[in-house]
Amino acid sequence: MEYLYAQDNLSLGQMAARWVAREILACPNLVLGLPTGSTPIGMYQHLTRLAQEGIISFAQARTFNLDEYVGLTADHPQSYAFFMREHFWSKVDLPKANGDIPRGDVSDLAAECRRYDDAIQSVGGIEVQILGLGPNGHIGFNEPSHNMEIHTHVVDLTAETIQANTRFFPGSEAVPRQAITMGVGSIMRAQRILLLVSGESKRDILTKTLYGPVSTAVPASILQLHTDLTVLTDIKI
Ligand code: GLP
Repeated sequence: MEYLYAQDNLSLGQMAARWVAREILACPNLVLGLPTGSTPIGMYQHLTRLAQEGIISFAQARTFNLDEYVGLTADHPQSYAFFMREHFWSKVDLPKANGDIPRGDVSDLAAECRRYDDAIQSVGGIEVQILGLGPNGHIGFNEPSHNMEIHTHVVDLTAETIQANTRFFPGSEAVPRQAITMGVGSIMRAQRILLLVSGESKRDILTKTLYGPVSTAVPASILQLHTDLTVLTDIKI
């Protein structure tokens, strides 16, 4: 495990963008797994700037997002598809067809899960995966549970996650109760993983993630078993 320390959230965004920029410069047709949430916003801002200045290009890249809420259309302002359009897709030269995200608004969610795994597999799997960390240790929307799912699947969100994500909605009752998420298998099969963690409130869960027992109670703890994990954080532990 490599541990990179950022002074604050601002420098975390810059460092994350430089890390990703190095990867894309080395491999222009990179298959990149992408997160949403507050933590990676700075990374997207800096990546956008680097792309607009012509320093990097996503013209040959493929991106796959980790997750999406069930029941929200891509036009819903709280959908992750909307987030990606606003923060990244509409601002860089990634061809529209090359940015994929699970659809949470389809009637056959099982078919959508299969479609997503097939799409990831058809390009040889995720090469570089960027992750955030949920307050309860989730990665994507792989919630604490008695088991871990390998494939893309539909998940019931925990009360803690609904509570944590209420800040983006008019109230807790408006937060979707389910999500569709890439499984832990696709994440762990990535050749390299960058875990972004920002803010004092994540100190305990980051400590458990990196130094606690590997357990389904803290899904991110499985990252301890990955052979090429970089942790970029502004929390000193
Ligand atoms: C959501 C996403 C996760 C993300 C997490 C942390 O629940 N499903 O993929 O990592 O939030 O978000 P934040 O960075 O806002 O703390």
